[in-house]
Amino acid sequence: MMKKAKRIAIFDTTLRDGEQAPGCSMTLDEKIMVAQQLERLGVDVIEAGFPIASPGDFESVRAICKVVKEPVVAGLARCVKVDIDRAGEAIAGAAKGRIHVFLATSKIHRQHKLKMDRKEVLKRAVEGVKMALSYTADVEFSAEDAARTEPDFLREVVEAVIEAGATTVNVPDSVGYAVPEQYGEMVAMLMSEVGNVARAVISVHCHNDLGMAVANSLAAVRAGARQVECTVNGLGERAGNCALEEVVMALKTRADLYGVETGIRTQQIMNASRLVSSVTGIHVPPNKAVVGGNAFAHEAGIHQDGVLKEKTTYEIMRPQDIGLERNTLVMGKHSGRHAFRQRLEELGIHLDDERLDHAFDQFKRLADKKKDIYDEDIEALVREEVEAVPETFKLIGFHVTSGVGVTPTATVTVEVAGEGVKTDAAIGDGPIDAVCRAVDRITGIPCQLQDYAIRAITVGKDAMGEVTLEIRSNGRRERARAAKTDIIEASAVAYVSAVNRLYQWISAGKPKGEKPHGM
Ligand code: KIV
Ligand code: ZN
Repeated sequence: MMKKAKRIAIFDTTLRDGEQAPGCSMTLDEKIMVAQQLERLGVDVIEAGFPIASPGDFESVRAICKVVKEPVVAGLARCVKVDIDRAGEAIAGAAKGRIHVFLATSKIHRQHKLKMDRKEVLKRAVEGVKMALSYTADVEFSAEDAARTEPDFLREVVEAVIEAGATTVNVPDSVGYAVPEQYGEMVAMLMSEVGNVARAVISVHCHNDLGMAVANSLAAVRAGARQVECTVNGLGERAGNCALEEVVMALKTRADLYGVETGIRTQQIMNASRLVSSVTGIHVPPNKAVVGGNAFAHEAGIHQDGVLKEKTTYEIMRPQDIGLERNTLVMGKHSGRHAFRQRLEELGIHLDDERLDHAFDQFKRLADKKKDIYDEDIEALVREEVEAVPETFKLIGFHVTSGVGVTPTATVTVEVAGEGVKTDAAIGDGPIDAVCRAVDRITGIPCQLQDYAIRAITVGKDAMGEVTLEIRSNGRRERARAAKTDIIEASAVAYVSAVNRLYQWISAGKPKGEKPHGM
């Protein structure tokens, strides 16, 4: 009889560690869309946020608990009562809820950050787990900076928190310092020397500062870890976290070596990657493993020849296994609402009726300008639908003059909620700079353009140009995007949309500082 493969739980922290990274913040609607896609992907745990960090984080954990049924939904908390109470409240409505408490254990964190000795850390860790258990039986403890913790102390902490009732114990490489041999040995040591280790799942959470997050996670699986924490596209603090798609496809492709399985429906990987990239505005580089645009492109003649003769000469994974093979040329101006909805469903996008109507309207307008509409065009339209925030400022029109030997000038008309339509003009270094300056004169909110990128969404001269930009004002950064066949219009729409997000934040009276990370 064949031996049954051991199951590795996939704990996705895109919505917590991923969202914590600069420029990756998501709105509530975006988080819900991502959580629903993670459920379709088949992750075991969704870490939905850090409820004490902000009211927005609390609300999103709560909302995700309501919409997600299969995966466990986790809320993060420091080992302090206020955090744990807030996390307990946030996950109360979950079909399966987890509280994830953490406390740093390494000497460097104990001395400089926590100012606690080993005894105090041990005591707080155990207390944290016990407090969390009063809300749910599913409690995870993370020994932050475990990879740099003295082995004897790490062993003691892990044993004590399991004794206190933790059902999962995570030993993160919080700073991306570990290398595979050492990290694997650390997990092997815990598996053999912690007396009660069989009563909990040992989990790993690796950061990618030295580019080894996936390799370290795999080494830990070989050594006995049974949960891997990761993020879609490897998003996360600094250089990011272990990339979900990479670790999952490595375990699947090299099942011969690892002998384990995950519950991931790998055909949903591309949909998840595209969605996360679109809502965060962080593009996936073409050479990114598994989900990069070139990951399955064979350019060299010798490779093409080999692949044509027999795919497995150069292809270790099949594009369809990650959901890559899709209908490219899809629709045109004669396509109806029903076909549009069906295509969205196939792309893993689910919109309510109101949003569907609006997106369909935009689709028809685009079809008047562009002959062939591709999946990527549809995704760009829907992205704008989902990312929309209340339009305090609404772009009505603009006119630009630009050329060689003339000063770029823009006249912009914006409808300001409660104040009516306003028109102003400005000059700039180029037509886009002039448009942004004219918008600033109308809104009265001076912003710096921090980041600006443009790319063609599909092929052909009539392709839509997608502008992704980031503005900064008063220490706050906001990203927005827009796709249009006219790139100056796309720039203007994206800029006004970023200003609307900024305005929302200002009018909500948000503090100047960002979320407390508490780490
Ligand atoms: O990197 C880290 O240590 C963390 C913990 C909160 C798990 O993100
Ligand atoms: Zn982390």
